[in-house]
Amino acid sequence: MDIVSTIPELRNRLANVGRVAFVPTMGNLHAGHVALVQMAREYADCVVASIFVNPLQFGQGEDFSAYPRTLKEDCAKLVDAGCNVLFTPDEAVLYPQPQTLYIEPPAIAGELCGAHRPGHFRGVCTVVAKLFNIVQPQVAVFGKKDFQQLHVIREMTRQFDFPIDIIAGETVREPDGLAMSSRNSYLQPAQRIEAPRLYRALQQVAQAVQGGQHDYAAIQAQTRQYLTQLGWIVDYIEVRNAKTLSPPDPADLDLVVLGAARLGKTRLIDNIEFCAETPN
Ligand code: PAJ
Repeated sequence: MDIVSTIPELRNRLANVGRVAFVPTMGNLHAGHVALVQMAREYADCVVASIFVNPLQFGQGEDFSAYPRTLKEDCAKLVDAGCNVLFTPDEAVLYPQPQTLYIEPPAIAGELCGAHRPGHFRGVCTVVAKLFNIVQPQVAVFGKKDFQQLHVIREMTRQFDFPIDIIAGETVREPDGLAMSSRNSYLQPAQRIEAPRLYRALQQVAQAVQGGQHDYAAIQAQTRQYLTQLGWIVDYIEVRNAKTLSPPDPADLDLVVLGAARLGKTRLIDNIEFCAETPN
């Protein structure tokens, strides 16, 4: 695997490599990221991963400074996963001048996580658009763990005519169900034991809907209350249309339940796609 940090070096390395599949990350890689890289190999001759902790997508008081930076371990995992090129730009490479132009994401990016992290998806879209222009891949792979991010990136790619196929990788979980995340390392031991409850609560929501309960507001409120009583600070629990992320119509069958909640200072997100029972 070659490691390059500048745009000219990357362009040079990628001349004549054939089809390129790209996996953007912020590093501190785990099995979820590794699965995306392995998936990318199936779509291209050359797999490029990037590691860049993007300041534009972190709000005031969020964990930009604390975000784990583990380049050495990350490199070993990428080599094992079959990555060909790792792009590790620093801020001076990606933002040589202050970024004054942004990709303004659609209204849906102001809901769910966007309602609790103002500007987050604007920062994500802006850096991903820049990385797409720098790497110029034919395929890019994103995880369903960040379901709203995947949705917004798909929309951006479509509406701005990036000639890139967006591929989605399934969420990789710990044996107890907790979705893998770089932020899991912030959890204290007792919080780590509690953490998989978010996934279980989302499973219960999906089962309730499949069992014929369609009062989403009531199910969401019950789940919020349940988690809050157990010490969680819940940002949202929402059932949405899995394709549009809009609140579902009664006839919608492809649904997703999304949740974000904090244990202490650690914010966890998760989601489950499911098919609603056909309404009679
Ligand atoms: P990061 O959180 O490092 O995630 C990089 C990619 O890995 C994203 O596509 C994310 O959805 C995916 N991922 C994370 N955890 C996963 C899991 N448990 N299973 C499967 N995939 C998982 O998402 C970002 O970085 C940034 O916002 C980025 C897109 C790089 C822009 O800065």
